[in-house]
Amino acid sequence: MTLPKDFISLADWSSDALHSMLERARELKRLRANRTPTPTLQGRSVLLYFEKPSLRTHVTFEIGVAELGANAIYLPATQVKIGEREPIEDVGRNLSCWCDAIVARTYSHGLVVDLAANSSVPVINALTDALHPCQAMADALTMMEHGELRKDRLVYIGDGNNVAHSLIHLAGSLGMKLTICTPPDYAPDAEVMRNGSRLAATTGGEIRLETDPAASMKDAAFVYTDVWASMGQEGEAAARREIFAPYQVNAELLSRAPTGVRVLHCLPAHRGEEISAEVFESSASVVFQQAENRLHAQKAILETLLLA
Ligand code: CP
Ligand code: NVA
Repeated sequence: MTLPKDFISLADWSSDALHSMLERARELKRLRANRTPTPTLQGRSVLLYFEKPSLRTHVTFEIGVAELGANAIYLPATQVKIGEREPIEDVGRNLSCWCDAIVARTYSHGLVVDLAANSSVPVINALTDALHPCQAMADALTMMEHGELRKDRLVYIGDGNNVAHSLIHLAGSLGMKLTICTPPDYAPDAEVMRNGSRLAATTGGEIRLETDPAASMKDAAFVYTDVWASMGQEGEAAARREIFAPYQVNAELLSRAPTGVRVLHCLPAHRGEEISAEVFESSASVVFQQAENRLHAQKAILETLLLA
């Protein structure tokens, strides 16, 4: 199977390729639990370029790269200023001389796309304003550990943002049942929805849009939320708190979901905003398992791209 060079959008990846990566992630998780070394990328170097803050993505990529036997070089954007200090064409060509892969977290999605176009080595999207595909892979792994990916409905509630977009691509590519419930003016991007629905038509997936939080809970096996104001939207936080208040994941909302429902959150979480402290700390919450799975999923992504 011919694989894409880059891991930028899940919409570019086939169902088979994503399933293989998820299976490898499961295996890497088992091997790590047994303390079995997996130095499959010995001698390689991976550049981590970050414009935005990060806890999980940065730390799990550093550790993941080390556990695969490779070197990680962390490069905050303040050191490089792509497009200011140096044009992107030159940054991409320089990095391709020394590195075997580039992991990039940027504001502009176009910047990651352009970096990939100007690099001969694989580029991995570590979150842009538009997409967060590494997160969605860890989410898929977590849902596989608690249920059946193609059977159990995932209900994402909150802002139609980067995390929601990658879940739409994931559901389309893997044939999942997904509901995206947002305030009317915060629906996901129409192009992302078109792509997700086009993929779902070939994989047997089903993607619904909803604006009524209570109604969206009806057949939820998983309820997922994310911050109401993403990185870069801090100035809108107060206004968004009012608009999104009815979309908080709390005990009252969850009481409308079938018993056994699990709660997901990509983190960082704002208790008392998109999720109540009670639900965040409850036994329904699998958020730290999701966070752990970032490591295993990203190791599988790195191996897939670098050993292709
Ligand atoms: N979920 C996630 O990507 O976390 P960070 O922003 O801390 O990397
Ligand atoms: N939507 C959030 C996700 C953080 C992991 C943001 O972009 O800030």
